Amino acid sequence: MTTVRPARPHQKFTADGRRMREVLTYSRRGARFTPSQQRAWDAHHEAWWIPDAAVDDPGFDLDSWFGRSAPLVVEIGPGVGEATAALAAARLDTNIVAIEVWRPGVADTLGRLAEAGVSNVRLLSVDAVWSLTNLVPEGGLAGLWTFFPDPWPKKKHHKRRLVNSSFARLAATRLMPGATWRLATDWSAYADAMVEALDAEPLLRGGVVPRWDERPVTRFERKGIEAGRTITDLAYRRS
Ligand SMILES: C[S@@+](CC[C@H](N)C(=O)[O-])C[C@H]1O[C@@H](n2cnc3c(N)ncnc32)[C@H](O)[C@@H]1O
Repeated sequence: MTTVRPARPHQKFTADGRRMREVLTYSRRGARFTPSQQRAWDAHHEAWWIPDAAVDDPGFDLDSWFGRSAPLVVEIGPGVGEATAALAAARLDTNIVAIEVWRPGVADTLGRLAEAGVSNVRLLSVDAVWSLTNLVPEGGLAGLWTFFPDPWPKKKHHKRRLVNSSFARLAATRLMPGATWRLATDWSAYADAMVEALDAEPLLRGGVVPRWDERPVTRFERKGIEAGRTITDLAYRRS
């Protein structure tokens, strides 16, 4: 199937050539690599990273980047890939797309995947909201993971939070019936907002759950615990 997709974020321009202002869930951070990130990038990006412009191809198809058809799981915001590598190693029969816009994190993730000896993950650096909307068909996901999405704690920034009611609708439509969306946050006010948004989504059933024991403790989680914050895990099933 060929599809003409809308412009990606950062590629939208006004009629007079100015970049359009968009509300995004991330801010642009440094793109400079450390020597070890550079080594990991050089060694693995050709095999495991999907170049941004590839998604502009009307014939773009996620399966083709894995060379096989298999159940698809998306992780949004893997950071440096600590959870990605462990979870991927435990489900080699699954195609996992980890969507991370922060390129040094992508490089770290590539290094961790290589260390773990897994080849069932592809990295994509195109905004996850755009990607879920435009690259994943309705009912196309066997699972969705969002661990420690940026909390955007200031009230004026709440509109930048990834998890809200419109994203809940999008995620719910992308999950196949029976598939689970797992989330975690160290920000209790964000956890409450997540519960409110996801409880209100008619296609989802779930709530706060005990810590998912398959999920390794990431640097982010460790920092949250050290700062005295409570970690909340959530799981919602698409009905
Ligand atoms: C707070 S970090 C958490 C990293 C990791 N999950 C962990 O537990 O350590 C959130 C990550 O999500 C990424 N991110 C935020 N919004 C995104 C989006 N719309 N598309 C892709 N990545 C995004 C950020 O670049 C950042 O690395």
